[in-house]
Amino acid sequence: MRLITTIREMRDRVSELKLIKSTSGGRENQTIGFVPTMGALHEGHLSLIRTAQKENDAVIVSIFVNPIQFCPGEDFQRYPRQLEQDKELLNRVGGVDTVFYPDIKEMYPEGYCTSVDVKNLGNRLCGSSRLGHFSGVATVVTKLFNIVKPDAAYFGQKDFQQTVIIKRLIADLNMDVEIKVLPTVRDEDGLALSSRNQYLSREERQDALCLYQALLKAKSLANSGETDAKKIIKEMVNVVNRTQSSKIDYVSIVNPDTLEDVQEIKDGAVAALAVWIGKTRLIDNIILD
Ligand code: PAF
Repeated sequence: MRLITTIREMRDRVSELKLIKSTSGGRENQTIGFVPTMGALHEGHLSLIRTAQKENDAVIVSIFVNPIQFCPGEDFQRYPRQLEQDKELLNRVGGVDTVFYPDIKEMYPEGYCTSVDVKNLGNRLCGSSRLGHFSGVATVVTKLFNIVKPDAAYFGQKDFQQTVIIKRLIADLNMDVEIKVLPTVRDEDGLALSSRNQYLSREERQDALCLYQALLKAKSLANSGETDAKKIIKEMVNVVNRTQSSKIDYVSIVNPDTLEDVQEIKDGAVAALAVWIGKTRLIDNIILD
């Protein structure tokens, strides 16, 4: 597994990977599967990597804690950075061709001033309390796609809004990348895996289960025929509020393409929530089918 820190070297490696000698002596295209991450890798990332391996000839993983997707006062400084541990994990999984690990100056050199904004979609849900967050995500993902030129890129359903925005970005800017969204990986008790779970104390880790419990409540109400989104949201709020250390940022049920609130549950509506557990903001979601 190579570790590449510069865009130039990364581009060279991508060119090499795209064209390798076929057995007949000619040259043929290799496909590249890409897993963009901010590091602090966990089983959720590994499941993306394993699928990328199955579906492509080569896999590239990026690790970059992207400063422009953190708002002032958020956890940019404190975000876990553990390259050695991440490399060890990736070596154990095997099959990753390259880890792209640029520094901030490499990605945003002096004079950098372009950003990508997926307007309305970026202002809803998490976007209303994390101003500019999704523009930061859309910008870095565009840059990474331009550098890595993947055939397919892999994201987790846990970051539901991010996946909707990236799909929109790809369509709107005619980018030739297939976006694959894989199911959220959870701990045995249901907590969605997240690099930010590292912030939780033992008690907070327990309290954090209220997110999944609220989603299960929504699912069971929808399954038993409740179609009124407001009623379901009310029940979800009740579940979260039973946990004292929780503070709700939002609880919503939205259309999976437009992210607009729905009144009536229809196939594919997504129940999503963001909740503070102490000083840690967690998100989770479930598809109500
Ligand atoms: O999901 C993440 O880890 C980040 O938002 C991403 C997609 C790597 C962009 O920085």
